[in-house]
Amino acid sequence: MDKPGVFGMGTDIVEVHRIQGLADRWEGKFLDRVFCSEELDYCLPAINRYERLAGRFAAKEAVIKALGRRVPWKSIKVLPNEQGKPLVHLSSSTAVEELRRSGVHVSISHTERYATATALCVRRRDRKTDEETG
Ligand SMILES: CC(C)(COP(=O)(O)OP(=O)(O)OC[C@H]1O[C@@H](n2cnc3c(N)ncnc32)[C@H](O)[C@@H]1OP(=O)(O)O)[C@@H](O)C(=O)NCCC(=O)NCCS
Repeated sequence: MDKPGVFGMGTDIVEVHRIQGLADRWEGKFLDRVFCSEELDYCLPAINRYERLAGRFAAKEAVIKALGRRVPWKSIKVLPNEQGKPLVHLSSSTAVEELRRSGVHVSISHTERYATATALCVRRRDRKTDEETG
């Protein structure tokens, strides 16, 4: 049985204007390919919408690096909790099923020019094993 603890880390930095350029050039296609509707509902109404989108893009890349394998963009959803803290939701697609027992944490920061994110994968304690071992 694998021990609980950090087993992956990833980071990414994105130029905000690049994300704005892709969004403008491909209109809805780029956004729909990369982001889930809840992510778009969070980012698009904001004045700094491209910073938010770039932050989420960086977060997805950071999660992929932390997981150590490329998974579909939309299988990683990054949404804020009530305090604004970004939480990662991995979809139940087969691509990430084996990773769903892991907790993935991200932190995002952005300015007008750059967005950056860092992700950590933490293997959860196996409750059954804990109960078995007391
Ligand atoms: C959270 C906070 C530190 C963000 O700092 P900032 O310099 O304004 O902005 P940054 O560009 O560095 O970071 C913005 C990102 O921080 C993240 N963030 C927001 N609230 C957060 C929180 N409570 N905890 C962790 N991350 C948070 C979000 O991902 C946000 O990006 P988004 O707007 O695209 O969703 C700032 O809003 C703050 O001080 N809030 C009030 C106090 C607070 O909630 N503190 C908790 C964290 S210690």
